[in-house]
Amino acid sequence: MTLLELKDVTAAYGRVQVLEGVSLSVPEGGAVGILGANGAGKTTTLRAISGVVRTGGSIVFDGQDIRGLRPDQVAARGIAHVPEGRGTLPNLTVRENLQVGAYLRKDRRAIAGDIDYLLDLFPNLAARISHNASAMSGGEQQMLAIARAFMAAPRLLILDEPSLGLAPSTAKSVYAAIRRLREESGIAMLVVEQNAHLAFSIVDTATVLETGRSVLTGTSAELKGRDEIRRAYLGG
Ligand SMILES: Nc1ncnc2c1ncn2[C@@H]1O[C@H](COP(=O)(O)OP(=O)(O)O)[C@@H](O)[C@H]1O
Ligand SMILES: [Mg+2]
Repeated sequence: MTLLELKDVTAAYGRVQVLEGVSLSVPEGGAVGILGANGAGKTTTLRAISGVVRTGGSIVFDGQDIRGLRPDQVAARGIAHVPEGRGTLPNLTVRENLQVGAYLRKDRRAIAGDIDYLLDLFPNLAARISHNASAMSGGEQQMLAIARAFMAAPRLLILDEPSLGLAPSTAKSVYAAIRRLREESGIAMLVVEQNAHLAFSIVDTATVLETGRSVLTGTSAELKGRDEIRRAYLGG
């Protein structure tokens, strides 16, 4: 079953039209990538879903039109967004960040269980449970941002360039954790990534954006086999 469906989504910042027609769909439990050059509109597509920019077209989540909802309303429907850059509260500790992530939940036992699970998934966070988020490395902050989003118990996790600014080995371990999270939780994911090698390590299908339009959609295997994708995103 389809969990999220975007059809001909447009978006603008003030009068500047940035998305001209983005269509994509994420199946229940599936993982979908968005690839594209800098400025193609990847972040704006995620912001359109989260209700942060004014949008046109249609955005249907779990059978209901969510276009035009406020960000807090979108979050309450079960979409957690890890933004580009840092998605943590810098002056709170790791544990406090995780607790804040669960603020809409009442199931105390399950919340405690999820925190234990995440500390097992991200041992670096366990080692720094009482440290302020701001005191951690970029990779650790990215792990915390993902963990915090997971604490909302979302049905869809949207991730904006989790590898941005990270050393290659750190980016790899972040992706290994995302992959495990996906396998163990069955949570659906929509992942923006410039590094297609990393994206293809977790997604089933991907959509390529060019200047605010989706121009190509396919399975990871299909896309990896295409010359233009290899040249543009896979380094040959
Ligand atoms: N807050 C903003 N105000 C005006 N233009 C913006 C804003 N954010 C992004 N843009 C423009 O929108 C386009 C798409 O940006 P973005 O969605 O961030 O691309 P990507 O994430 O693919 O790099 C770019 O041309 C960018 O300059
Ligand atoms: Mg971006």
